[in-house]
Amino acid sequence: MFGFLNKEDPADNDNVTLDPQRIPAHVAIIMDGNGRWAKARHLPRVAGHKEGMNTVKKIAIAASDLGVKVLTLYAFSTENWKRPNDEVNYLMQLPVSFFDTFVPDLVKNNVRVAVMGYVDKLPAATQKAVRDAIEDTKDCDGMVLNFALNYGSRAEIVSGVQAIAEKVATGELAPQAITSATLDQALMTAPLAPYNDPDVLIRTSGEERISNFLLWQIAYSELVFTDVKWPDFTAATLKACLADYQSRDRRFGGLTDKK
Ligand code: FPP
Repeated sequence: MFGFLNKEDPADNDNVTLDPQRIPAHVAIIMDGNGRWAKARHLPRVAGHKEGMNTVKKIAIAASDLGVKVLTLYAFSTENWKRPNDEVNYLMQLPVSFFDTFVPDLVKNNVRVAVMGYVDKLPAATQKAVRDAIEDTKDCDGMVLNFALNYGSRAEIVSGVQAIAEKVATGELAPQAITSATLDQALMTAPLAPYNDPDVLIRTSGEERISNFLLWQIAYSELVFTDVKWPDFTAATLKACLADYQSRDRRFGGLTDKK
């Protein structure tokens, strides 16, 4: 097995034991396969997104229970606007339904909502739902549930570089003083410090691509790909992915004692 969980039946995975000392602090997920899940059931694509939203509820609580500090979910990319209008409209309304029904559970579980992306380009109702959820959970100090909404990593890096260039232009920052930390601080993950970078990036549905997600931040992330489509992803699948993560030897370019 090479970073790829090919079990289709998540129930098979529930005998996993995780090392509680090595739970990844930041888990990021590319939630893929909603459309194919729906198609296999002769349902419209949006039925897959609706079921995918229910999966978000289950996985947010499961990750929080496991002790994850930040769960970042790729909910809508800057490229997803290319989809048919009906689907885009449905995806824009999902955060409204999600937060309408789920904020009390998030508060009960001490989960704080965060959002990264070009939120000001979202429809007004979506922006309001997001702002309200952030406000209603602001005192929670457990896991951060971080939605990437209208997010794209190249655009994020360009925005960050522009902000840095402006400081250079005004003389506030010398070019020689720019370090990797300067860019960390200019990116949309800056408020997640010290957990800016995912320890593990999971992608569901068998696709093995990064799709413009957290390109800078995943430099040393472990990548886990599973065949399971997002609507079928369960707490047991999450545990299996984290067990795969825990089996890796993270060296960050260096050597370990074993070598
Ligand atoms: C990718 O599957 C999924 C998306 C583009 C949308 C993801 C959104 C959710 C899971 C719901 C988000 C919930 C909240 C609360 C914001 P796809 O449509 O590309 O699937 P396919 O590759 O099988 O067609």
